Amino acid sequence: MFYSCRTRVKFTVSFVAVTDSIQKFVDSYARVGARDLETGNFFDAFYKQFVNSSPIVADKFRNTDMDRQRDMLKVSLDHMVYFAIDREETEEIARVAGVHSKSRTDIPHQLYELWLESLLATVARFDNKYDAEVEAAWREALGPAIAYMKRHYEKN
Ligand code: HEM
Repeated sequence: MFYSCRTRVKFTVSFVAVTDSIQKFVDSYARVGARDLETGNFFDAFYKQFVNSSPIVADKFRNTDMDRQRDMLKVSLDHMVYFAIDREETEEIARVAGVHSKSRTDIPHQLYELWLESLLATVARFDNKYDAEVEAAWREALGPAIAYMKRHYEKN
């Protein structure tokens, strides 16, 4: 992955600050993507963890094709990380936020905490170099997009 492609000169200061952390995220993401555990690949394991984290989450996905869902998340994670780098509101992030808004799938704020904690628990299982810095890197890579999606809960 080449995350610097969309950076702008005006973001130089924050880009320099975010680079080490984003690099840690990219390295960890590569490690987890390369592993298959007994529960399947990283994304399968994440969705199992997430769906089991609460009956509310299980209910939200009761009619969902989880193979398609897993593939969509794979693609959208890249867009979420681009957003952490340049904060540019793209059509894709706006569209994904719209899917989760109150008037569509109705995903309240607290479910994002479960989403992130489930993701981190899965990273911890799949990344044999997982430590506090790697955890912070994942939080930093995904935090801005999560905040964006929460802000758009009522808007769409
Ligand atoms: C930053 C966090 C999240 C990301 C990146 C994400 C990503 C996605 C993507 C890419 C889709 C497919 C959109 C489409 O159909 O075009 C989707 C759908 C969906 N997501 Fe999320 N999601 C996040 C958080 C959550 C949370 C916290 C929940 C809570 C249960 C959730 C529940 C759903 C549901 C119910 C759908 C629709 C599934 C269907 O089509 O049946 N998502 N999500």
